Amino acid sequence: GAAAGAVAVAGAGGAWAGRATAPATGAASSGTAGALALHGDLRVPFHGPRQAGVETPPQAYLTLVALNLAPGTDRDALVRLMRIWTDDVVRLTEGRPGLTDTEPELAEVPARLTVTVGYGPAVFTAAGLDDRRPAWLGPLPAFAVDRLEDRWNDGDLVLQVCADDEVTVSHAVRMLLREARDFASVRWLQKGFRRSVGSEPAGRTMRNLMGQIDGTRNLDPVADAPLVWSDGTDGWLAGGTSMVVRRIRMELDTWDEVDRSTREAVMGRRLADGAPLTGEKEHDEPDLEAVGPHGLTVIGPAAHVRRARTSDPAERFLRRAYSYDDAPDVATDPGALSSSGLVFVTFQADVDRQFVPVQRRLDEVDLLNEWTTPIGSAVFAVPPGCAEGEFLGQALLG
Ligand code: HEM
Repeated sequence: GAAAGAVAVAGAGGAWAGRATAPATGAASSGTAGALALHGDLRVPFHGPRQAGVETPPQAYLTLVALNLAPGTDRDALVRLMRIWTDDVVRLTEGRPGLTDTEPELAEVPARLTVTVGYGPAVFTAAGLDDRRPAWLGPLPAFAVDRLEDRWNDGDLVLQVCADDEVTVSHAVRMLLREARDFASVRWLQKGFRRSVGSEPAGRTMRNLMGQIDGTRNLDPVADAPLVWSDGTDGWLAGGTSMVVRRIRMELDTWDEVDRSTREAVMGRRLADGAPLTGEKEHDEPDLEAVGPHGLTVIGPAAHVRRARTSDPAERFLRRAYSYDDAPDVATDPGALSSSGLVFVTFQADVDRQFVPVQRRLDEVDLLNEWTTPIGSAVFAVPPGCAEGEFLGQALLG
């Protein structure tokens, strides 16, 4: 409607699909000339063949919570939990409180809230459905660059909660966790952020905390849908996908010592505009063959963008990363200034076919490895979406 059109939706440009809508009642229909539509009123539809929060233009805030199943949570219990969560998420994304909401006023601002549910391997075991577990669902192979800390690894269930308002995220997360109390408990929780809505023109590619434009060459969730969504080779997973979560620390103290031209050489792209070192504009194709005055390739053999690329078009995935910036760990690292990095979230139809080969290549050679350290790793199966009256995960558990 007109109200939705009047609001610039951060990240809605570029390749990202989907469009948030404002409610039918509101500034647009009240006839108030010139009334400013509130961004907080924008809603992302929940019902549909695919879960929201994957092709949704990334909202400003992320909370990702992994849970451990409580002993005794069987298939029936999982169905009960999924029914409760589905009902909560339908309500919250529409700006209505959940059935047991103790702070109903906090539900009034959906701000493009999406909740995406994923399953770890234990869900299949608990439900007695190990035969329906996708072959790629389990810990990633070990990589030499990994310094994984168990407190950021794995999980039986995951909730990816995103919105353009952090109060909205916080309220939704607490409600969903409270409802799950009899079934599961928190294993880890990771928060992330991007630029606030309104700080930049909509559709800009995000900058990470190393200052790089990050996300330029990504999948187009519409044109590349077969790479993002499962086609049903895995049966019940048709319309679902997989979520890989890598928590990657940035070594910003040593990165500080690197001059600007070296920083650009590490990536193969310019800091100012994200253009490849062989091009003019952000979205120009890098020329990996181009040679400079000294006979060396302009984009070096170990530059991140060269190593992350592939001639195999199937080795691609949707990156939907957020920055994190925790309190520095001054207890063990006196004088530390920060503890920052990326909550690196990717979606792909098949983890082994698409994600693993790229991560393996980067593990072998990538200049960026000097300043980045994976400290957490998890893989989840993201069930398809659901129609009105259905519950999330029905295709598997129902
Ligand atoms: C490209 C940063 C980790 C896969 C890029 C770009 C930046 C960047 C700035 C160039 C702009 C763009 O096309 O998005 C980082 C940082 C990382 C990180 C700061 C860690 C903290 C990873 C990891 C993977 C990955 C772990 C995969 C396992 C890719 C891919 C591209 C890319 C596939 C696009 C390459 C192309 O086709 O041109 N990254 N990255 N990155 N990165 Fe990373």
